[in-house]
Amino acid sequence: MTSTIEPTTAQEACPGNACGNPPQGRATSAARGALDRPSELQRTVDVSGLVDSEGGLLDRAIFTDRLLYSQELRRVFAPSWLFLAHTDQFHKPGDFFTTYMGEDPVIVTMDKNRRIKAYLNSCRHRGARVCRADFGQTRNFTCTYHGWSYDLEGRLVSVPNESGYPDSFRREDWGLVEVPHVESYHGLIFGTWNPEPVSLRESLGDMAWYLDAMLDHDPEGTVVVGGVHKWVLDGNWKLAAEQFATDWYHVNMSHASALMVLSPTGKGSKDEIVHRTGRQYVDPNGHGAGFPVHPKNRFDADTVHHWMDYDALRERLGDARVEGPVTTGHATVFPNFSYLPVNGSIRIWHPKGPDEMEVWAWTIVDKSMPGEVREAQRLYNLRTFGPTGIFEQDDGENWSECQAIAHGFITNGVALNYQMGMGSEREDGIHPGTTSELYSDAAGRSFYARWRTLMNTPAWHEETQ
Ligand code: FES
Ligand SMILES: [Fe+2]
Repeated sequence: MTSTIEPTTAQEACPGNACGNPPQGRATSAARGALDRPSELQRTVDVSGLVDSEGGLLDRAIFTDRLLYSQELRRVFAPSWLFLAHTDQFHKPGDFFTTYMGEDPVIVTMDKNRRIKAYLNSCRHRGARVCRADFGQTRNFTCTYHGWSYDLEGRLVSVPNESGYPDSFRREDWGLVEVPHVESYHGLIFGTWNPEPVSLRESLGDMAWYLDAMLDHDPEGTVVVGGVHKWVLDGNWKLAAEQFATDWYHVNMSHASALMVLSPTGKGSKDEIVHRTGRQYVDPNGHGAGFPVHPKNRFDADTVHHWMDYDALRERLGDARVEGPVTTGHATVFPNFSYLPVNGSIRIWHPKGPDEMEVWAWTIVDKSMPGEVREAQRLYNLRTFGPTGIFEQDDGENWSECQAIAHGFITNGVALNYQMGMGSEREDGIHPGTTSELYSDAAGRSFYARWRTLMNTPAWHEETQ
């Protein structure tokens, strides 16, 4: 599959603006309807005083404030590479999957030339979604409001009663707005609205080494088993994203009962369940990953564990990865894609206003896994990190708890502590990039430093105004 996914850009796909989508310099104005939007609609706050990454302090307004939230959509989500789907979801032209980039609905589809494309899922007529299905197979996307119809390349191909429009009306001016860049990395498809982004691979930096602990077990890559689980949680999306980037600290307390169930004796003695030795990867672009090293007890599916050829993995990925990130751990690719290597759980935290997120989760497995092992992994992932999983419920409860009280006037003004592991960041000589202790807020501080930088930097759409 991966071989059919080539990086595409709107310009490559539509030379000379043939598909009706705007040339890159004007992508913003077209996406907004080409009108002259008053700047009062886009008030901007300097967030320097809200995130003290150097001192390890955070103001809770970043989780509750509606103005900051809309600035996040413009300056954090719009310019970033955002996870869209897995390549295994697209096998034939017309296969599609609908998702969100921030709060923008998008259709991801394979076009006639087997390229993965993504379009804003909003009709150019009155703005309804042109595709309301979660996934499927189609030749055209036809809007159910008045019937405008778009092909797999996003072109407007049919307009009922077209003769009623003025002579100046040209279908080619009214194609779906295309996501200008879509790229994939080892089966994970990302897109960005940024007309001139750094490449996806460059934005991942050393994080790719950690990602490969899940994605690159064998040359065949990974496939999706089962569907996509979706559920809504009270809580700001950053609470989940930062936890997956930086927080092994909560495991023994929050997941005490789950660890007890999974511990070899079923009693969950401290000696059995505590992993205190490990590292945390701290990425300058806000990504993060944590993992015990040489864990005494593994918490993966037995069937999968016994099927794995660890000697072959050592040869392919090296000892440092097999003794660390492969065994267990957590990770976030900034801003809102997270994964658990040992479970094959990949997920996105869709923002739904400052107080709510929608979690979408897939289970991925090595393509070489036989059917019964795939099924064991799918069930194991559901039982631990599905919507009712014994770990997932603990985590969701914590995020909702933090959010539930954060709007109190006094509460909101009391700073939060992210000081664990201050000054511990270093090159450890084993793992790429900068790492910290397993119990540390270092990747969290880096996550929010990146957030602060983006929030305080005008995005491309502001520069062209
Ligand atoms: S809103 Fe889509 S055809 Fe009218
Ligand atoms: Fe957790």
